[in-house]
Amino acid sequence: MEVFSKIEELLAEINSAQPTSKEELETFRIRFLGTKNIIKPLFGEIKSVANERKKEFGQAVNSLKQAAEEKHSQLKEQMEDADASSAKSEMDLSLPAAPMAQGSRHPISIVMNRMIDIFEKIGFIVAEEREIEDDWHNFTAMNTPADHPARDMQDTFYLKNSISDLLRTHTSSVQARVMTTQKPPIRIIAPGRVYRNETISARSHCQFHQIEGLYIDEDVSFADMKQTLLYFAREMYGPETNIRLRPSYFPFTEPSAEMDVWLGTDTTATKKLTKGTGWLEVLGCGMVDPNVLKNCEIDPEKYTGYAFGIGIERTAMQNFNIGDIRLLFENDVRFLRQFSSVI
Ligand code: PHE
Repeated sequence: MEVFSKIEELLAEINSAQPTSKEELETFRIRFLGTKNIIKPLFGEIKSVANERKKEFGQAVNSLKQAAEEKHSQLKEQMEDADASSAKSEMDLSLPAAPMAQGSRHPISIVMNRMIDIFEKIGFIVAEEREIEDDWHNFTAMNTPADHPARDMQDTFYLKNSISDLLRTHTSSVQARVMTTQKPPIRIIAPGRVYRNETISARSHCQFHQIEGLYIDEDVSFADMKQTLLYFAREMYGPETNIRLRPSYFPFTEPSAEMDVWLGTDTTATKKLTKGTGWLEVLGCGMVDPNVLKNCEIDPEKYTGYAFGIGIERTAMQNFNIGDIRLLFENDVRFLRQFSSVI
């Protein structure tokens, strides 16, 4: 029947409709869904349809109308999506870029990296180790057994529910780690963070940084150590720098010394930092105690060595004229930003 093929025809038209503009979509709407749409008159045609097909015809016209509605809303949606994405791609290339915040190195890292560079130049290799240590590596191996009075020199943070796990009190624990796993010759530096249960003030903190140095070989002498440390001081503080070694005591070195560098008392900053003496204490050092070598199964008859531990914070404070150690750990961006020009 003619009316049925008319429906077929319109359905095919609806299905294949591909409007490319809002205007074309509107034409589609008016044709199929407007007040004088093309489907409406079809409902009147039911009169001319044979009784037994009336029901079928009614359903066909209804689904034609539904198909038109669905197609229209689908096309409308597609067009809106396309609008949205084309709006996005309309980039204004003349707009200034969003500012990118540039980070800066922490003064501790700056100083630490400088020191690492200085020692790497003469063959020291960086060894990094854990901050949570056990009692053996931090103390016992370092010739500081449990009842040793020198344990009082460093107030230790022990881990909860543990009698042996602790936050390392010095990077000397790395000496034990390295000596028990490597064979001489050993020439390492170990930079890192250490912890001591100390009252926090402008001058001291419960966390700070050290660089440990260790050199073990045949015939290593105190003079070798002194020459290496003088080289370090002159690279770090300038070619004219003078040092002095004061006798000292550490359980893991014998003899032991502390090294000061001469900063003078010309400025209020150096006066304050050196407590009026002109000398800044920068490191502890000494010849590795034979007991330490024995503890780590290195033959003290064959090998000797020296070790040193440099404190980073004081040098950083002196370098950048920082008056309060706490500033180094507060992560205040107003403070940190001031080092963005230093590498
Ligand atoms: N571990 C010592 C300290 O923390 C420094 C040191 C290291 C001294 C190596 C001698 C040899 O003070």
